Amino acid sequence: MLDWSDPRHAPAAAPIPPTEATGLGTIDRGGARVSVDDKRMINCRADVNQLLPLKYKWAWEKYLAACNNHWMPTEVSMQADIALWKSRDGLTEDERRMVKRNLGFFAASESLVANNIVLAIYRHLTNPECRQYLLRQAFEEAVHTHTFQYIVESLGLDEGELFNMYREVPSITDKAAWALKHTQGIENASFATGTPEADQAFLRDLVAFYVIFEGMWFYTGFAQILALGRRNKMVGIAEQYQYILRDESIHLNFGIDVINQIKAENPHLWTKAFQEEIRTMLREAAELEAAYGRDTMPRGFLGLNAALCEQYMHFIANRRCGQLGLMPVFPEADNPFPWMSEAMDLKKEKNFFETRVIDYQSGGALAWD
Ligand SMILES: [Fe+2]
Ligand SMILES: [Fe+2]
Repeated sequence: MLDWSDPRHAPAAAPIPPTEATGLGTIDRGGARVSVDDKRMINCRADVNQLLPLKYKWAWEKYLAACNNHWMPTEVSMQADIALWKSRDGLTEDERRMVKRNLGFFAASESLVANNIVLAIYRHLTNPECRQYLLRQAFEEAVHTHTFQYIVESLGLDEGELFNMYREVPSITDKAAWALKHTQGIENASFATGTPEADQAFLRDLVAFYVIFEGMWFYTGFAQILALGRRNKMVGIAEQYQYILRDESIHLNFGIDVINQIKAENPHLWTKAFQEEIRTMLREAAELEAAYGRDTMPRGFLGLNAALCEQYMHFIANRRCGQLGLMPVFPEADNPFPWMSEAMDLKKEKNFFETRVIDYQSGGALAWD
């Protein structure tokens, strides 16, 4: 009997022309109407330019939730941060180093994530409701990049130092290069999904960016800044990070849903060997993050240190494995930062939407002439 979990024995589907997958094929004049059952996550033959009828309601709901969370970094006051940053004894040298390296990591990472969406994922994800979410997510990554521009400008930081850190600090370069190779593998014009090998490469990219970059590495970064915020330090940046964290937790969950849906529709891709490969990716990613923890925090402060961050990565990596239906990669680890779940629950914080600029409507009514 053939083992259908082995990609070599997968049912042969006739590959679809790449232009059909992207939505740029010749218009099928008067073609049969699209039904829900025609829709698929990858390698879809149905018209990818038709949002309705909706098939994947989870994707549409995430798009709506993301729109409801709209925010802009400039709505957050930076006055307290500016005063603290400029005062001679407001922050220790260890705290300053961590803040700068943290900002430097995020400043370029938001662009790497955005590039991956626009140049790699969008083309191969053949479902319009998922693409609708990707368009929203791409804008949110632009808002996040804007946040780092706003922080650099507000605090008068050296923009060259911050935005080049991903090329100059080895542990940050290592993470960026590790993720980038997945974008490079699938963005070129000669790459097309439709074979088990190519579809697995696409899944690897989704894991690298949604599960690891946004779902693991960003979380240490959030914990570092929110640890300062809890002690009333850099409260403006901490508030912005809370909003980024809220966005990123939807990005992560969207990615997990996309991967699990592709698995469900293409079980032949999810072989034992491939599962082991994904688990190895998560283990490697946790090791890269431990190196970043040591680079950003050679000494501990405010209840944070490199060893606790490594433990946090083990805890998070095991959780991500569970979300993907994989066995954990590390021995059971406790969450050393249980307060992170409170930081994610913004309702406990001041009601942002009551304090935000009231005149959003008037912004829409501006005369452009
Ligand atoms: Fe982001
Ligand atoms: Fe993101």
